[in-house]
Amino acid sequence: MTVKIGFIGAGRMASAMIKGLIAKEVYAADEIAACAPSAATRDRIAADTGVQVFASAAETAEAADILVLAVKPKNIIPLFNEEKLRLEHRHLLISIVAGLRIETLATYVPDCRIVRVMPNHCCMVLEGAAGYVMGPGCTPADREVTDRILSAIGLAVEVRECDLDAVTGVSGSSPAFLYMAVQAIADAGVLHGLSRDAALTLAAQSMVGAGAMVLNSGMTPEQLIDGVCSPGGTTIEGVKTLQEKDFKSTLIDAVNATVKKSQEMGRQ
Ligand SMILES: NC(=O)c1ccc[n+]([C@@H]2O[C@H](COP(=O)([O-])OP(=O)(O)OC[C@H]3O[C@@H](n4cnc5c(N)ncnc54)[C@H](OP(=O)(O)O)[C@@H]3O)[C@@H](O)[C@H]2O)c1
Repeated sequence: MTVKIGFIGAGRMASAMIKGLIAKEVYAADEIAACAPSAATRDRIAADTGVQVFASAAETAEAADILVLAVKPKNIIPLFNEEKLRLEHRHLLISIVAGLRIETLATYVPDCRIVRVMPNHCCMVLEGAAGYVMGPGCTPADREVTDRILSAIGLAVEVRECDLDAVTGVSGSSPAFLYMAVQAIADAGVLHGLSRDAALTLAAQSMVGAGAMVLNSGMTPEQLIDGVCSPGGTTIEGVKTLQEKDFKSTLIDAVNATVKKSQEMGRQ
């Protein structure tokens, strides 16, 4: 079978994406290739997913027209300056490398089309949220294939490149804030006599369900909050407490701090 998509890098993100692509039948395992310098990584991904493996990015680029760049930012200069990876007009390069601007990447690979993606780590359970930017010269077919690939690991929204710092705050970092909320709600459950397991399961599933309600009910968060708060009931007591403790502005401050840090790192 012809290789249709190649992963440059075979670490945590590449593995998650490959598993999603196979599970959602976007590509079969034998249509996917991945590369990594270490034999241990190649053996692991081949055993876990059944994809074809190569030792070098150049061999992967030779085999596939669509490439996902999934190495660490520190691997970029060695990849392009030392290994001298070159790409051609036929290549669509989908980069998930944090902080690497399309303009900078294009200096290394001026002939191919580039898509820049900011995924989040929830793609490991195929519930990711990604923002993506179509670079200059990308075609409607490139947009369609990018959307199909990213939809295999969750939801994806097209944004402008200048919005990616905001995406970093809203979906890149926010899982950490939400884990803190789940942990705190579960702690409160334990305080009131639930087992740790029961409390964590109920708190986490409530977060999954609340997210699904926002995405699928057609109602705004305000309408949904209203729906849970019966007049004179239990929930409005908790909502009042969160309002008194500035819950919303604390979360806005947390996202804001993340966006600012991302902007600072982008300038370096
Ligand atoms: N993890 C997240 O939550 C997250 C979220 C958003 C964006 N990202 C971005 O996703 C990218 C990948 O992150 P990750 O967590 O998957 O990293 P990772 O687990 O460290 O994987 C990096 C992979 O790159 C391979 N590699 C290094 N140099 C290479 C080269 N010259 N040619 C081919 N492969 C090479 C490594 O191979 P060896 O194993 O052989 O060293 C490894 O398999 C990063 O740029 C990160 O910024 C990550």
